[in-house]
Amino acid sequence: MIRLAALLSLALCVGEAQAADPLEVLRGEGYASAAAVVKALPIDPKDSAWEKAAPISLLAYPQSTVKPGLAEDGAAPLKMELRVLAKGRELAVRLSWPDAAIESWRTDRTDSFADSAALQFALPGREGTLPYIGMGEPDRPVDLWLWRNGRETEKLSAHGFGTLERQPGKLPDGDALWENGTWQIVLTGTIPNKAGPLLALSAAIWNGGDAGRDGRKRHTAWHLITFPGARTNSKVLSGLVKEGTASGNPERGKNLAEEHGCSGCHRLPGGEPVETGPDLTLAGGQHWPGYLRRSVKRPSSFLVPVDRFAEEGNLTSGKSLMPSLDLSDQDVEDLVAYLRSMK
Ligand code: HEC
Repeated sequence: MIRLAALLSLALCVGEAQAADPLEVLRGEGYASAAAVVKALPIDPKDSAWEKAAPISLLAYPQSTVKPGLAEDGAAPLKMELRVLAKGRELAVRLSWPDAAIESWRTDRTDSFADSAALQFALPGREGTLPYIGMGEPDRPVDLWLWRNGRETEKLSAHGFGTLERQPGKLPDGDALWENGTWQIVLTGTIPNKAGPLLALSAAIWNGGDAGRDGRKRHTAWHLITFPGARTNSKVLSGLVKEGTASGNPERGKNLAEEHGCSGCHRLPGGEPVETGPDLTLAGGQHWPGYLRRSVKRPSSFLVPVDRFAEEGNLTSGKSLMPSLDLSDQDVEDLVAYLRSMK
């Protein structure tokens, strides 16, 4: 009996060893990177310590849901590079992106805007769910570090659109360098208290030269940062893998979208703008796949924060204009694979 149990547990171990490493799966999907651990965090964008961190290439997409955004102007996505260094619970992030000219904060004019950048942090929920990318959701809060050229940095939190609040405590340190048409910004601080060994991070940038403020920004999708040596709850990890992958067939998803008349309410690639629902032409680049799946499966589980998208034109109704569609699990996966291809 004892021998059988030992054999059985050995078999189980082998089985586990053969299963794909969830973090490897998420890295393969382009959704996760490891922070490099260092003894001292740099603040200077030119510090040689940044060489230790692998570059993370992300596209920052024009905000296309809340008006005024940038997408209406036909703005293109911008390539960004992030590098992440960690020391205990302290994090340093260097963000780089192209910007033709420097715009600083000015108190003598109201029609000029400063180049700015923000980092948004979230902790995956117990099932590996991540919040809506635009300031989180009532039960899925986010923390933010904000840098505006020529001003003090800010530490904020939010749990939905219009709920942004300053947070007490030490402000993140920031340093900025503009050189040859590229900004390099370093933000460093203590990672949010409630964060576990795995942190979701996204970046937003505003171009002062393009009247960048509020929703006139570009933003990346969520990217998961892992900390070497830290163990993450396996349920959260398997939830993240389930949410972050889409095993469906995008071609079939495209046909299903036609069948169900998605383009009656949404702009789809190659289609005309539609005002009824959010523009989906870049949805695959802007959103975490789990969020796309949730939106298709249970439209009213979260309302995109624009009154006209809700029944009676009022978000407090809690009901989306988007109908709950009769979709099989396979249909949902195929639609998610189609949505994910839009970037
Ligand atoms: C009757 C109009 C209508 C139809 C038909 C419709 N939607 Fe929607 N959809 C909306 C509205 C309005 C919202 C925003 C409100 C919300 O969050 O539910 C939305 C939200 C979404 C979102 C989240 C977008 C974001 O920017 O956060 C996705 C993804 C989506 N729909 C996909 C689809 C797909 C795929 C179809 C077809 C299978 C479809 N929708 C059909 C109206 C519609």
